[in-house]
Amino acid sequence: MLFRLAYYSTNLLKQANDPRRSELRKIVLSAGTNNGPKGITGGLMFNRQFFGQVLEGERASVSELFCRIASDPRHCSVVLVEAVEVASRQFDRWAMGLAEKNETAEKLNAKFGFAEGFDPTGLSADLFLKYILEMVTLEDQLISVSVPRW
Ligand SMILES: Cc1cc2nc3c(=O)[nH]c(=O)nc-3n(C[C@H](O)[C@H](O)[C@H](O)COP(=O)(O)O)c2cc1C
Repeated sequence: MLFRLAYYSTNLLKQANDPRRSELRKIVLSAGTNNGPKGITGGLMFNRQFFGQVLEGERASVSELFCRIASDPRHCSVVLVEAVEVASRQFDRWAMGLAEKNETAEKLNAKFGFAEGFDPTGLSADLFLKYILEMVTLEDQLISVSVPRW
């Protein structure tokens, strides 16, 4: 059974650029190693305040990974946006696509009407998903950090 889970959380990584980026690389490397063999695909975005992530795959695998991620000390206050059965994957190109570019965020914030930047707290599951999918798609050229599925 194909399943999709989306959440946002409070980003606890340091604001200084280097430590933040190296921790993010570690996260994406873990995702690249672990997600593929488990049939998990998805997208991850972040800004200074939040992480937003979508996980797709077999229900038990998604659930197990989510529980592991939820206890990761690099974030807190994990809020579930949706957990639903789905007919197909939307992130089928990435074991975990990462969106990290400010310019991409600026472009999308204007398009989605986020005057103060991405704020998932009042967002519908539908818009949350669209935003992350667009972010990850726009940054697909960042092969150095996103992990292609195939
Ligand atoms: C916001 C966030 C997203 C994460 N996403 C994933 C993921 O998609 N896959 C994964 O295996 N680990 C992910 N992690 C890391 C896990 O919490 C955990 O550190 C990792 O799976 C441990 O596996 P490893 O020892 O093989 O690195 C994420 C962590 C954070 C903070």
